[in-house]
Amino acid sequence: MYKSKIVGLGKFLPDNIVTNQDLEKKIDTSNKWIIERTGIEQRRHIKKGDGNTTATMGAKAAKQALERADMSAKEIDLIIFATLSPDYYMPGSGVFVQNILEIPNCPAMDIRNACSGFVFGLATADQFVKTGMYKNILVIGSETQSGAIDMTSRGRDIAVIFGDGAGAAVVTRSNSSSLGILSSHLHSEGEFADELVMIAPNMNKWVTEIVSDNDPNDSSYYPYMNGRLVFKNAVTRFEEVINSGLNHNKISSEDISLLIPHQANLRISQFVQKKFGLRDDQVYNNIMRYGNTTAASIPIALSEAWEEEKIKKGDIIVLAAFGAGFSWGSNVIRWG
Ligand code: UT7
Repeated sequence: MYKSKIVGLGKFLPDNIVTNQDLEKKIDTSNKWIIERTGIEQRRHIKKGDGNTTATMGAKAAKQALERADMSAKEIDLIIFATLSPDYYMPGSGVFVQNILEIPNCPAMDIRNACSGFVFGLATADQFVKTGMYKNILVIGSETQSGAIDMTSRGRDIAVIFGDGAGAAVVTRSNSSSLGILSSHLHSEGEFADELVMIAPNMNKWVTEIVSDNDPNDSSYYPYMNGRLVFKNAVTRFEEVINSGLNHNKISSEDISLLIPHQANLRISQFVQKKFGLRDDQVYNNIMRYGNTTAASIPIALSEAWEEEKIKKGDIIVLAAFGAGFSWGSNVIRWG
């Protein structure tokens, strides 16, 4: 079995900054409430006509990751694209990235695990590298959530949290037996599928209905989240799945160089930090700047932490996510 490692990271955030004060003007909320409950100060939203879509942002992040990996797009053997907000209902967004980056005939697949999408994607890439089936894999997380947000007071719990952006990683075969992705731990619990959900459009509520009804009171076209239940489950599952990673690799929380939790809510990250007794420099958070970018949040944070030279060879990096499905997971990496 081979080992896989991350050799390049990239990110792309649209220029348009939406502050809490901007939201105060549109919906019944306050800067104070948003900061106290979520830690978010601003997020990015694409602007109509700026050329940004889930796929184009993903391609920009991937291009940067490839440059930093010193790898040509032509060397990529597989594209894994994680998103809950694809450009089209079908095909998935991975093939658009393939076309934009002119990657020759290689498989491209989409992963629809929302906030856990990147962790699931990295685990999938790791398996393909391990077996030797593919050598160089692009794993992308990208989201355009602003288009589906209910920007009225009815949707305020969701509207203040979510943002747009993309992150990407180039995964390749490691020459070292000790450096690289050590393990991944994945879970889903469909019992809670309706607790964080966007119901329509779906096969039962399709174009004829959208056009004929055009009912502004129908909230099934907007994301719904049972915030408190999600919060409670998140803190428990984060703890469990990080512990799975630590136990599997026979390491302790003191060995963690950097924990990068999915940026769902600063209070969740702080709760997890406290549970594991981690210092501030052992946990990376950027939700203040970008909000919750679901599948993009971990690769954006990972890329930013790398840019800030917070990641070095031999470090133990733990990625952990929880979100819709419910689905949750972790990856433990020894950087190198
Ligand atoms: O990334 C996917 C995973 N997602 C998560 O992990 C998110 C988990 N959940 C959360 O982050 C939090 O539950 C929220 C940030 C969504 C909500 O925070 P909360 O502390 O759980 O608030 P709450 O839902 O219990 O609501 C408290 C109050 C309510 O008013 P009343 O009933 O006490 O009068 C809400 O109507 O806050 C109100 N509220 C708001 N007020 C101002 C809800 N949203 C807002 C808002 N601005 N944006």
